Amino acid sequence: MMVSDASQPGELTSEQIDKFRKDGFLVLPDFASPDEVHAMLARAATLVTEFDPSTHPKSIFSTKDQKRTSDAYFLDSGNEVSFFFEEGAFDSDGKMAVSKNHAINKLGHALHDLDPVFSSFSRSALMKALTTSLGMRKPTPVQSMYIFKQPRVGGEVSAHQDSTFLHTSPVKTCLGVWVALEDCTLENGCLWALPGSHFDGVKKRMLVERGENDDPEQGVTSFQGEYPDWLGETNTKTKFVPLLTKAGTAVLLHGENVHYSAPNHSAVSRHAYSVHFIDQAVSTWDDTNWMKRRDGFPFRALE
Ligand code: FE2
Repeated sequence: MMVSDASQPGELTSEQIDKFRKDGFLVLPDFASPDEVHAMLARAATLVTEFDPSTHPKSIFSTKDQKRTSDAYFLDSGNEVSFFFEEGAFDSDGKMAVSKNHAINKLGHALHDLDPVFSSFSRSALMKALTTSLGMRKPTPVQSMYIFKQPRVGGEVSAHQDSTFLHTSPVKTCLGVWVALEDCTLENGCLWALPGSHFDGVKKRMLVERGENDDPEQGVTSFQGEYPDWLGETNTKTKFVPLLTKAGTAVLLHGENVHYSAPNHSAVSRHAYSVHFIDQAVSTWDDTNWMKRRDGFPFRALE
């Protein structure tokens, strides 16, 4: 049933739903309140302050193969609040080459379940109204990220589709809710989205085989399919739309929408929080996804 008018906070109007279905993304100004934005910025700052880089696998040189250690850290991060660094944050001896506050690229990927501030935001009545108004019957957050996009060193995120990494069967139900926590501009690496690109299907899938005992240390990653060179073709590149979102604005992203963000060469950061949902009423998380929950830590639907 279509919703004709937004009757409660977070619920989309039929006009907004139509726009989302047509474009594959939708900008929602003032989705997060100034208090929520402030709480998330402050919480991330605390997590970084409390983080000890010497415990991070990239800074630990042990008898273990370095690449495997970092890969396992990534593959297990769906169960943790893990820290990921900008490229070049460490020198060849494994020591941090820049200050900790400017070295972290993102936190992920279970903030929505493990951290009280991010869990409360991700599981709010607003989020429930938003996801159900798009037709989700059992909206379930599966992945969350706090993205820093650090001044001067914040790297680009190349053009991609989120469903490449967050696959469900038999239908694809991945939905991203990306929230600007600081104003996003052309200079500090705002999002760019390609309208209508979700109609072309998922071009590439990431698959991880974990072997016996679901051991992330045994994980072998492969890809199925290939992305076209969306940004290399002038024709396509010019069709991307920059999303100049103010702090508090949410961007809904269809799992098959193509989007990217440029590097941040400016002097200001561009923090954002993103959480991805699937609909467990009609789809199942694929076992071959890169992320896998440990026994006893299942995905929890919104209440
Ligand atoms: Fe994305």
